[in-house]
Parts: sequence; C-alpha cells; structure tokens
Amino acid sequence: MKRVTIRVPATAANLGPGFDAFGCALGLYTDVTFEETQSGLEITGCDEAYAGPDNLAYVSYCAVLASLGEELRGVKIHIDAHIPICRGLGSSAALLVAGAMGANVLRGNRLSTQGLLNITNAMEGHPDNLAPAFFGGLTASMVDNGLPVSVSFPLHPEWEILALVPDFDMPTVKARAVLPEQVSRSDAIYNISHGAMVLKALELGDEKLLCNAMQDRLHQPYRKHMIADFEVIESLVRTNGGAFCLSGAGPTLLCITRNDALREKLEQKLQGLTRANWEVLRLHVEFQGARVIWAEG
Ligand code: HSE
Repeated sequence: MKRVTIRVPATAANLGPGFDAFGCALGLYTDVTFEETQSGLEITGCDEAYAGPDNLAYVSYCAVLASLGEELRGVKIHIDAHIPICRGLGSSAALLVAGAMGANVLRGNRLSTQGLLNITNAMEGHPDNLAPAFFGGLTASMVDNGLPVSVSFPLHPEWEILALVPDFDMPTVKARAVLPEQVSRSDAIYNISHGAMVLKALELGDEKLLCNAMQDRLHQPYRKHMIADFEVIESLVRTNGGAFCLSGAGPTLLCITRNDALREKLEQKLQGLTRANWEVLRLHVEFQGARVIWAEG
C-alpha cells in the first residue's frame, strides 16, 4: 500500500475527577493522509510552524516504523484538521494516533492497537486522550509498569455534549505547570469517589448524579484562573442541571446534559460575556475509534 487516510475523533479527557484517566471520543475529526515517497518529508494542510520533523503525526509515524524495524523512506503528509488546536479537544493525540496508525497500515498492519497505544503513550505521557481516540466511546485508563491499560465503559445514548470553545488557546504544558506536585489525602479520596460515580452516572443517563459527581479537586481549581469566565459558565451550567467540567486541560469547557433546551440558553448567555468569544459545538459521542477511511496502492 502506498497511500492511506486515517480519521481520528476528537477526545475530551479527564471528565472532571478522572484526571489523566478518563476520556471520551467525540464526533469531530482530524483526517491525515500518508503517502510514501522515495525520500524527504512534505507536510501540508497546517501552519508552516508545524510543517517540519517535529510534527506529531510524523514523530509517531517514525516511532512506529522504528518499532517495526522498518526503514524510514520519504513521506508526504496532508492534515485536514477539524479538531481545534490547543483547545483541550485532543488535537495532539489525534496526530499521534494518525501517525502511528498510518505507518502501521502502510507497512502491513503488524502491530495491534494496544501496541500502537503503548508507543504513543510513551510520547504523550498519559493515555486519557489516546485511548478514546484509538478505541472510541468512553474509556478509563491506567499506566501499570509503564504500560497503558484501557477499558471501555457503557454510555447512555441520550447524552448531549456541548463543547464551549473559546477564542483563546491553552498549551497543555502551561496548564500542567500550574498543578501541585502533591495533593492531600482528602482531595485524593474526593476524586476517587466522584470518579466512580461519574462512570456510573454516564452509563445510567442519571443527570442529577452526574451533575453532583462531575467535580474535581486535582486540576480544575488550579486551572480555572487561566480561563476567562470559567466560574460564570460553571454556575450557569450547573444551576440549569447540566454537568460541567474542563475538556482535558482546557480551555474548552463541557456541558453534558440530556436537556435539549439548555444549548439555546447557553448560547444566548455566552453572547453576553465580553472577556472571550465562546462557540458552542453540539457533539455526539463517537463510538468508533481511529480508522482507515481511504487506502490506495
Ligand atoms: N489529562 C491531561 C491534563 C489532558 O489534564 O493535563 C491534556 O492532555
């Protein structure tokens, strides 16, 4: 095979208390095409600044070839990204996943999805976006002996996920730099107990339980000051019965609800905010993970 296009879904990591562990795939995609050539690297479809050998799709492409013991020849990469960049919706994980899968498919599909997850997790450092990007749906992950282990959880079909995406970005490195190295026992207990309830509430479609459980003490309290309007929007969502959390490291905020009317209400209220412009994306859960959508040669 000479050319392949991989489609990878956006992902919302953490989901409140599941810091670095929970993630959900969403119906918004980045497509990346890989075409083998005799030599050289050409990357199109992204800003010039990302079109070099540091591009994450290329980095993971090379890592998978190395793991397969395959020679690195030339490659043309075209990125068609609909996942907003640096907004907490898994745009970096999508490139890592696409690169890994692209290289694997082009060289005979010898690695399993778990093998690709192992390689990309070594680059990303936490599997919470990678697992749902590979497997789709709702996942929880742990890293044990240096290797990621991910499992899927059932989700009630009627959840509506509103991603509130602001017009400013937030590099994950910056959002992780504000987190404390140590946490108290009571905060750890708070997150473990709330996290278990989040998974059950998402399965049952229990909006009241989800609204209560989707709270966090390990990362959101430290990050919210960097996000204009965080507290106003949190209060707006929660007083209307929706569950609220940061999407990944932010700055996108999530409202998870079964109430159709909440979207219009949020859109109206967000227009009145002046510190940032917020776009409301109405997304469905994507139950299918990364996949080949086109192949040739
Ligand atoms: N779990 C990660 C974080 C997600 O919150 O920093 C961002 O990649």
